[in-house]
Amino acid sequence: MSTTSLANDPTTAIATLAEQAAPGLIAIRRDIHAHPELGFEEHRTAATVAAELTRLGIAHRTGIGKTGVVGLIEGGRPGPVLAIRADMDALPIAEETGLPFASTAPGLMHACGHDIHTATLLGVAAVLKEMAPRLAGTVKLVFQPAEEGLGGMAAMIADGVMDAPRVDMALGFHNQPDLPVGRFGYVRGATLAASDRFDITLTGKSGHAAAPHTTIDPIMAGVALVAQMQTVVSREVPPLRPAVVTVGAFKGGTTHNIIAESCLIQGTVRTLDPMTRDLAEAAIRRLCEGVAAGMRVRADIKYRRGTPPLRNDDRVLDPAIAAVAAQLGAVIEEGRPSMGGEDFALMADLVPSFQLRVGSGAPGRDDRLHNARYQPDEASIPLGVQALSRAALELLS
Ligand code: NI
Repeated sequence: MSTTSLANDPTTAIATLAEQAAPGLIAIRRDIHAHPELGFEEHRTAATVAAELTRLGIAHRTGIGKTGVVGLIEGGRPGPVLAIRADMDALPIAEETGLPFASTAPGLMHACGHDIHTATLLGVAAVLKEMAPRLAGTVKLVFQPAEEGLGGMAAMIADGVMDAPRVDMALGFHNQPDLPVGRFGYVRGATLAASDRFDITLTGKSGHAAAPHTTIDPIMAGVALVAQMQTVVSREVPPLRPAVVTVGAFKGGTTHNIIAESCLIQGTVRTLDPMTRDLAEAAIRRLCEGVAAGMRVRADIKYRRGTPPLRNDDRVLDPAIAAVAAQLGAVIEEGRPSMGGEDFALMADLVPSFQLRVGSGAPGRDDRLHNARYQPDEASIPLGVQALSRAALELLS
């Protein structure tokens, strides 16, 4: 094969570069895995990322959104700005894998594979730096802190990650253990849910358990409220619109013979579209008012909206899945949305975006995310590098 035909068909070039980078990327992944850090505390991880970007000759800035890192690869021709985002934080889970590179930080673990993500984006950086003359546009490498519910993406956006140069479109990705390594997945439209939370305090009047008529029992009111909240999804939300209302905590009372003064009900609401999201909040607020009026308690509700639904945009999705198929063959399949949440949604709310699912299931294993024994297949790193690099090349062609 002549060098000219190699240059015209990027498949071999990307595969070769990803293969060359793989041992280094796996070493970086294992190093990050052994040293997990919680959200906004990713100082060591950010330093590892910055050192690798320096080694690759990629301009970058640290301290974006506290511990985030942003790198920039200028293409050979002008064009749009594509952000590619990886998250870097670990979880408060005590690792039980027994791996030689298991966590050395007590009680902390990369149980969501964000170590895999960080290494993968460094691999994409290495490949695209080599192929920069072929890019029409700019790649912004976004290494994000604090994805696990702590607001890392919001912090990076507040620190200007979408500006200078202004981001036009974005690619995200997540490892997925229920997809075998080598496979990839996508969902059209909403792929992950809005994640909102409520704290409801019901206050009654405490007193002797033997004289309930002299009290107002907040636990009885709370039981009624929790039961009524089951009707939000079953009787108010249209059946073809997915929604979850889960009460995860019910706290109240002290002992057998006292009617409590108050109780606390905490839960989460997951929805895939704005209409259902508004409807569920309004219904829960109305049920609180109803139980307050009907059962003489005071109901105080704190309802906090978290990340919006993550919506994939066909303008990024279609070229990206075509690129994955061109690079790796018929390995990408359509999947179903999940009611989990993810703050890449905040970036996807601002610019057309797509989150690629990268199969990380190791043969013979049955892994789950956020599990103390999670062992993603490391071959997902160079494969993810190939898929995302080709997608970037396609989007900036
Ligand atoms: Ni995750």
